[in-house]
This record gives sequence, C-alpha cells and structure tokens, in this order.
Amino acid sequence: MTKICCIGAGYVGGPTMAMIAFKAPDITVTVVDMNAARIAAWNSAELPIYEPGLDAVVKACRGRNLFFSTHVKEAIREADLIFVAVNTPTKTYGLGAGRAADLRFIESVARTIAEVAETPKIIIEKSTIPVRTAETIKTILAAGGRALDHQVLSNPEFLAEGTAVADLLAPDRVLIGGERTPAGARAVEALAAVYARWVPRERIITTNLWSAELSKLVANAFLAQRISSINAISALCEATGADIDEVAGAIGRDSRIGPKFLKASVGFGGSCFQKDILNLVYLCETYGCPEVAAYWESVVSINDWQKQRFAQRIVEQLFNTVADKRIAVLGFAFKKDTDDTRESPAISVVRDLLAENARVVIYDPQVPERQIVKDVLGPGSESERLTVAVSAEAAAEGAHALVVVTEWDEFATIDFARILARMQRPAFVFDGRNLLPLEKLRALGFRAFGIGKPAAELAAPVIVSETLEPVLAAV
Ligand SMILES: NC(=O)c1ccc[n+]([C@@H]2O[C@H](COP(=O)([O-])OP(=O)(O)OC[C@H]3O[C@@H](n4cnc5c(N)ncnc54)[C@H](O)[C@@H]3O)[C@@H](O)[C@H]2O)c1
Repeated sequence: MTKICCIGAGYVGGPTMAMIAFKAPDITVTVVDMNAARIAAWNSAELPIYEPGLDAVVKACRGRNLFFSTHVKEAIREADLIFVAVNTPTKTYGLGAGRAADLRFIESVARTIAEVAETPKIIIEKSTIPVRTAETIKTILAAGGRALDHQVLSNPEFLAEGTAVADLLAPDRVLIGGERTPAGARAVEALAAVYARWVPRERIITTNLWSAELSKLVANAFLAQRISSINAISALCEATGADIDEVAGAIGRDSRIGPKFLKASVGFGGSCFQKDILNLVYLCETYGCPEVAAYWESVVSINDWQKQRFAQRIVEQLFNTVADKRIAVLGFAFKKDTDDTRESPAISVVRDLLAENARVVIYDPQVPERQIVKDVLGPGSESERLTVAVSAEAAAEGAHALVVVTEWDEFATIDFARILARMQRPAFVFDGRNLLPLEKLRALGFRAFGIGKPAAELAAPVIVSETLEPVLAAV
C-alpha cells in the first residue's frame, strides 16, 4: 500500500496529510479539494491556513510525496486509502436545522467513490460525523454497482487548531474504529501501520466503528463542558470577590480534576465545539434520550450567555451607554495562533457592541480585514461603525475601552502606559482572556476588568509587606 488520497484540504486534511507525508516518505499522499483557490494556495508560498510549524512540514515534502490537486476522481481511482476530511457543518435547513450535522458533503464523497473506484478501497472517516455514519457510507458504496469489498474506518481527528503540528507529531492517542471482521481487522491494521511510523503502538487505540465515531463527539463535549463549568463559576466569582484563577488553581490540584482546560474566558469558539455538541444533542433526541440532550445543550447555553454577559458588562461599566464610543477590540480569531474565526466569541461581542451603537475598531495579528468585516456584518456589507486597525496601538487611539477577546501573546507585552496616553478618560480595559495584570493596569490609571476577577472594590485587601512584617514578628 503506497497511495493515500485525502478529500478535503482544510484545517484537518491539510495538516494531517502533510504530517503523514513527512513521516512516511515512501507513501504518496494526494490532498484534493473542489475549492480550486484553496488548492492553489496549498501549492503556493502562502498556505491557506496559519498553523505554527506547518510551513516547514509542507515545504519538506510538497512535490516529493505530498501533492495538492483538484483532480478528485483521479486521486480516488489511484489511492489505496481514502481519507474523508470534508466539512460537516450544522444543518441550517429542514429536519434537525440548527442541531444535526449536515452530511451532504460526506454523502457526495461516498457517491463519487462508488462511481469511480475500480479496486477495493479503505475509506477513512476523518471528518467528525454522527455515530453510525459509516453505515450510510457503506450503503451508498454497496449500491454503487461494482461489487467491490470496500472497508470503512472511523479515525477521528483530535488535533487542536493553533497547535496542530505539535498535536500531530505527538498525539495523546490515535483512534481507529473498524468492523469486527477479518477484513475489517486487516483494514484497521493497514491504517495503524501508517501511524505507527511515528506514533508508539500503545497510543494507537482500536475500537468498533460506532465507539470511534461517538468518542469524537464525546471528547469535544467533555472539553467544552469544562470551559462552560469554569465560566459559570466565573460569574459567581465576579459577584462575590473570589478570583476564578485562584479557584481553578485550587480545584485543579485535585488529581481527579486536573489543571487543564480550566481557564475562564469570554467563551469557547471554533468550528467544532458548538457544532459537535449540538450534533450530540440531536443524536440524543433522535435515540430517545431527551434528558441527556438537555444536559449537554446547557453547555452551549452557558457559552452563549458568557459571551453576552461579557458584552453587557462592557456597556454597564461604561455608564450604561457605548453609543458613539470607540471600543478597541484586540483579537478576532477564536483563539491564539490561528487565523480561524469560525464561531469566534469576537463575532458575538462585536455584534452586541454594534447593536448598542458603539464604534468598534478591531485589531488581530492574523485575520485579514475582509474576513473580519464579512464575519461581523455578513458578505458584501459594510458599516462606518466597524473598522480594522493595523496594530493594537492604532486601535486604541482615542478609544474609551480596550477589549481583549483573543489571547494572542503580543497583547501581554503591550506598553499600556503608552496606550493609556492615547485613550479617552476614564480608560477601560476588559480582559476576556485573563491575560493582563489587572492590578498593574489599575495602578496605571485604567479601570480594569477580567473574567471572574473581582472588581477593584470587591478585591480582597492586599496587605503590603511593611504592614505584614510587624504582624508576623508579633506572632
Ligand atoms: N478544524 C478542526 O480543528 C477540526 C478538528 C478535528 C476534527 N474536525 C472535523 O474535520 C472535518 C473538516 O474540518 P475542517 O476544519 O478541515 O473543514 P474545512 O471547511 O476547513 O475543510 C473542508 C474542505 O472540504 C472540501 N470539500 C467539501 N466537500 C467536498 C467534495 N465533495 N469534494 C472535494 N472537497 C470537498 C471543502 O471545499 C473544504 O476545503 C469536520 O468534520 C470537522 O468537524 C475539525
């Protein structure tokens, strides 16, 4: 087996296939997509997605054993293994609208494979899909005319955007689900052998098809649930004077809870968490588990509420009106080190501020202006109330408030004294990522607010060391 084809050259297909080509020089990997502009970008000096380290990996093997092409049918015909990494967005129409996964791209790929494959293929679901989608794919393949014994595997992708290359280099685990038949086991082993080039065997887990399919949705639901849980508590912290980072630190030391994914924020974003939870919710309803559906749906509700709560707090603190005030929003990507803006909390926060008639100026180190404007206002629309700046400093010029929405490292090193001099007074900072030193900003003269951070008047009294020393000496 020497030929791999991947259908879908997006955030998953591009980096995962680049890593396979990088680690397995004897395997030819062709990534195909119907989006010609995207393929042209993969073949150019400027890749269509930004991921730290990705440039080097792609450049090491592009043209050697990694190819990007729009010739979908040809690549299918020649491949032994076919990864399917097309998008599976939330349905926006008809039955299950707003919840169920839209599987039309998956189905269309299955139909194309059925139509053009001349030899048996191993078809690998890389996209995140509802449990039992492999059955649909198999049915379509079987109805395709040629009696070929294709195998369908589930191999969900767990990479996180922003750390995709590091995640692919050293994954916590690789999950492969297949049919529990001799042919299924052979297909699972063929795929496992590809990953085993660089992933230790004990990290390659094999399960039945439905377990693998469901595990991806459940993993994302659990991750998002942790964020919503800590964000829910952040509201209580703001009301009581507790500090969410201290609470997270304290509970995270319990080895049963663990410290990861306990960072309070303006809310989660990205193309996956919300979509996958809603997909899980829909599955629960479809399979007759409405209580389970309601439980998981609340994770999304808390996230929506957190985003709205953040925007509302800005308005309230700015004396209940932001009308005609200039608000500088720092960061637009859904998290740092990516240019992906899908479901970014920035979209919701900016829209809420515009609805209050604010003048919003946005700066993001990676997201281009046209993307920002399109995400906030919709394709083809413009507003004089929404502008994009080339730097944080330029955005802050004449602003009433700075609002950090993405945790880009560069925001932590901003010269706030310099920025304060250019802002309106009183100058406000709202840190939606708890990235900034609020006490220092307050000392400079800012009115500074974080997520789950006590406001200045609620903060626990700080005993300065001169006062503390005599007290300690007396004890
Ligand atoms: N983005 C992530 O971090 C991430 C992580 C894990 C899993 N996933 C899952 O992986 C899948 C892909 O996600 P993504 O972020 O890479 O999506 P994406 O939108 O960036 O890329 C999907 C690509 O598939 C192409 N495509 C769709 N139908 C096609 C067809 N019939 N023929 C050829 N090309 C076709 C599209 O043109 C697009 O370029 C989704 O199911 C997603 O849930 C994403």
